[in-house]
Amino acid sequence: TLQQVSTIAEMRQHISEAKRAGQRIGIVPTMGYLHEGHLSLVKAAREKCDLVVMSIFVNPLQFGPNEDFEQYPRNMERDRELASSAGVDLLFTPTVSEMYPQPILTNISVANVTNPLCGRSRPGHFDGVSTVVMKLFQIVQPDFAFFGQKDAQQVAVVTQMAYDLSVPVQVIPCPIIREADGLAMSSRNVYLSAEERTQALVLSRSLREAAAWIRDGASPAEVRTRIINMISEMPLASIDYVEILSYPELSTLEQFKDGEAFIVALAVRFGKTRLIDNLIETV
Ligand code: PAJ
Repeated sequence: TLQQVSTIAEMRQHISEAKRAGQRIGIVPTMGYLHEGHLSLVKAAREKCDLVVMSIFVNPLQFGPNEDFEQYPRNMERDRELASSAGVDLLFTPTVSEMYPQPILTNISVANVTNPLCGRSRPGHFDGVSTVVMKLFQIVQPDFAFFGQKDAQQVAVVTQMAYDLSVPVQVIPCPIIREADGLAMSSRNVYLSAEERTQALVLSRSLREAAAWIRDGASPAEVRTRIINMISEMPLASIDYVEILSYPELSTLEQFKDGEAFIVALAVRFGKTRLIDNLIETV
């Protein structure tokens, strides 16, 4: 049965008990408004861990001044039900003042992998992510941490941070969960109007097309141009970026090479809603 805890002190009590009992602890960090994408992480955690902790915390540090921190969708009642059915043992739901009682003076900043893609469009975003994730790691002391490839750059950042700072956690990347029509699930999809929702299908469609073009020998530059052309046909779409990079280093890729993993990463705005999607593959 699900237990909900909102203070760091109470979390520490649960964790030390679990550690004493020799339990393997898994964490699924989220900002709530749960969907099947989040729940797939719980399922993966359930398979590897004895105690599954989910955090729900809309982290102000990772939102820019003109971003949607205030508007970010929230529904704790519904989230608690979904978390419980999915098999979460412990739900950590701190308030902002519990996590940041005073202005935080410490910042975790991962270099290089944060330079391109969302790091470029959202200055400071990944500092906010790595700082809150480090804090969650310190509070929960998990053996495993589950992250979705939907946010592929976030996986790269968190993995690098854990490695660099010798955090004894294994970061487990999990596949992107999509709606039946291909749209990658996201808490922000609720912002989309019906028309935007239809046009947003161009993201997953262009990634599927890209996979085929790459199999047929197209170069990264060619694939990028074709994706941009495809997305530009949607009148409501405004491209933030379309990039093809090596993965997980996220460095420039002139050519696809046998056995070398790459990412095709997209960020596109539909009205006020910024959507991301990606494809990670090896040729
Ligand atoms: P949030 O956007 O709520 O996502 C929580 C986790 O769910 C992330 O690891 C994300 O990659 C994963 N996720 C979201 N949509 C998914 C999908 N369609 N398929 C698979 N996984 C998906 O990411 C964050 O919150 C925050 O940055 C956080 C890590 C909690 C730090 O504040």
